[in-house]
Amino acid sequence: MMTRVAIAPGVILWRERFSKTEQQTLLNDVLARIKQAPFYRPVMPGSGKSFSVEESNFGPLGWISDKTGYRYQATHPVTGAAWPEMPALLIDLWREIADAPDAQCCLVNLYRQGARMGLHQDKDEKALSAPVVSVSLGDEALFRIGGETRRGPTRGVELASGDVVMFGGAARLAYHGIDRIKQGSSSLVPGGGRINLTLRRVTQTD
Ligand code: SIN
Ligand code: FE2
Repeated sequence: MMTRVAIAPGVILWRERFSKTEQQTLLNDVLARIKQAPFYRPVMPGSGKSFSVEESNFGPLGWISDKTGYRYQATHPVTGAAWPEMPALLIDLWREIADAPDAQCCLVNLYRQGARMGLHQDKDEKALSAPVVSVSLGDEALFRIGGETRRGPTRGVELASGDVVMFGGAARLAYHGIDRIKQGSSSLVPGGGRINLTLRRVTQTD
């Protein structure tokens, strides 16, 4: 059964928002699109240090990091092709819960063994009135979310396959990240690990 949990002001978690069957359907949709837009390993602006996650995007705009900075762009940085369309299940999810114009970006993060994501804010979007909606598939993860300052108190939340987190309003610029993945806790993702799908509205108008 799906349960809705209030984590903090502006932060909502739906446990198992997607059933096992829906998770498999969504994963199949994701992997079919990844054939068109393969995972690549971004690097940090400035240092050029590699991310431990691999990434791709779906939808009209993709979020990119390279030596020159963070930005949104309509094409894959390696293949030059337009990003694949957003999976229908994700468009439906956004329309159901986000109360904002349609999402324009689905960032796809692949966490293989040992991958993590440091605390950061999602702040490259102009549409800060729209929330961030995040879907987990595969291995469990320890998600961490705090406030608008990097050094403030944070809270750890275990995320499992099918869980959905939304943060908006007072929490739209909350620092968040992934401490670690519990390798082998799910067999959903071929080759192991976790896939995170992060939906965002980027521009105020189309
Ligand atoms: C992100 O903040 O981009 C990813 C969060 C997650 O993997 O759950
Ligand atoms: Fe993020």
